[in-house]
Amino acid sequence: MLTPPDPFWLRPMTLPDIPTVQEIDRLSFPTPTRSGLFEHELAQNNIAHYQVLGTRESLIGFAGFWLIADEIHVSTIATHPNWRGQGLGELLLLNLLVESYKLPANMVTLEVRRSNVVAQALYRKYQFEEVGTRSRYYRDTGEDALLMTMPLLDARYRQYLEQRQAGLFQRLVGEA
Ligand SMILES: CC(C)(COP(=O)(O)OP(=O)(O)OC[C@H]1O[C@@H](n2cnc3c(N)ncnc32)[C@H](O)[C@@H]1OP(=O)(O)O)[C@@H](O)C(=O)NCCC(=O)NCCS
Repeated sequence: MLTPPDPFWLRPMTLPDIPTVQEIDRLSFPTPTRSGLFEHELAQNNIAHYQVLGTRESLIGFAGFWLIADEIHVSTIATHPNWRGQGLGELLLLNLLVESYKLPANMVTLEVRRSNVVAQALYRKYQFEEVGTRSRYYRDTGEDALLMTMPLLDARYRQYLEQRQAGLFQRLVGEA
């Protein structure tokens, strides 16, 4: 787990985090994650890995992924609306990518709503590429999903992550 500059922190999600995680989830997605799913993920799904991000006493974001064979699939990522635009979603994604290297995994995949240009910009910043679409993937709005992937194979990308980390940590110190 990355250790971001004070007062921000990252750690694995635990069961007592779930009410706050669910509140952020409700504020972040058109259809909230169904009740009981986070509990199931933490307690029973041993391919699931969830992280939370906080500042001082407050939990302000979370991310999760599944490790399937040697691939990481990003299942969720969100920051509290009051904390957006400050590099914290980027911190969650960067942490997830660094964790992926450690496992180790060879590829990261994710789905994102076609209309979600903010998340797509974040993924493109980290060199994810659009590799396909899943038609009408989201049942709530009937919207398509873009399938994006990032192969983690090469050392150059790892170096790129280290550079991004240095830049982001500097930014977070400025914002703290
Ligand atoms: C997607 C999300 C996690 C990004 O978190 P955030 O804390 O707002 O993002 P950051 O401040 O870390 O920004 C990181 C990058 O995202 C992109 N981004 C952030 N806000 C943006 C905006 N308003 N417009 C366009 N791009 C934006 C930029 O590429 C930005 O990099 P930059 O700072 O160099 O410009 C957050 O907006 C969120 O929780 N959204 C709702 C849930 C969601 O859609 N999750 C993704 C599901 S696939």
